[in-house]
Amino acid sequence: MAKSGAISAAALTDGCRAPAQGHRVIELGLPRQGKSMNLTIRSMVQDDVPYVSRIDREAFPTDWPPPSFGKELNSSIIRYIVALNDNEGHWGGDAGPPQPSTGDGWRRWIWRMRHLLGRGDSSPSTDIARDGRRIVGYASLWLLVDEAHLTSIAVRQAQRRQGIGEVLLIGIVKLALEMKASLVTLETRASNAGAQALYEKYGFNRVGTRRRYYSDNGEDAVIMTTDNITSSSFRARFGELERRYVEKYGQPEWQLARPARKQAASR
Ligand SMILES: CC(C)(COP(=O)(O)OP(=O)(O)OC[C@H]1O[C@@H](n2cnc3c(N)ncnc32)[C@H](O)[C@@H]1OP(=O)(O)O)[C@@H](O)C(=O)NCCC(=O)NCCS
Repeated sequence: MAKSGAISAAALTDGCRAPAQGHRVIELGLPRQGKSMNLTIRSMVQDDVPYVSRIDREAFPTDWPPPSFGKELNSSIIRYIVALNDNEGHWGGDAGPPQPSTGDGWRRWIWRMRHLLGRGDSSPSTDIARDGRRIVGYASLWLLVDEAHLTSIAVRQAQRRQGIGEVLLIGIVKLALEMKASLVTLETRASNAGAQALYEKYGFNRVGTRRRYYSDNGEDAVIMTTDNITSSSFRARFGELERRYVEKYGQPEWQLARPARKQAASR
């Protein structure tokens, strides 16, 4: 059943955004690796912004420019988390962030101008973050009244189907519980079968549709919402899924405490 609160939350955010076309179908048949990955999930900090922007642009190329990660980090109702690992895997030569796709004429022009003016995201020469590890994915949450709205989740293309999206979703639910939310809700493209499978695994139900929600191709959004995350049934299922995750991929390290906010930026 559609929850009216989920709709009000969506009106204030962009919803889960538009993923890169094509990867969805191709990935369905890829083998899973199930190896221990030495993952850390921590709160995003300002220094992570260029790396997260890169992942964002790779994952959501038609939804550009990206949100203002730097500004959102200072909001008390928004939380970002990043996944870091030590495994090998590069951006294909560290050639800099993916650019808007060809055909997006004016977007490419703005992208170039922003970089010429020094306003674009700085392009790190490697994907090693300041703690010497690779940022391989990120997710964000907006708390609107008692609803946690999953606004974005993305994993580096080369590192998908290795449990990173799942651990990010576990992190989002943990944060939602910590922020005293009663449910987690999101929108996703009707065609995004991979993401929907992930959400369904964690107990999200389809509660409605937003017709022609995505402006690039007029695609519908599916609204997916959990039951009450504080209920004993949700917690039991969540706990069991987390236990199975650890069995399969190893224990991730959790560093979800909110980093200290910058005084000047929050004024
Ligand atoms: C969606 C996304 C975050 C998933 O991340 P991931 O690291 O590849 O996913 P995981 O390996 O953690 O998968 C966890 C579960 O999700 C489901 N899943 C993820 N990708 C899937 C796919 N391509 N096909 C089918 N199921 C998939 C499976 O149930 C999987 O559990 P399993 O391994 O037991 O089968 C990733 O594909 C991505 O970044 N996509 C582009 C951005 C995007 O679409 N974001 C969502 C916007 S709403």
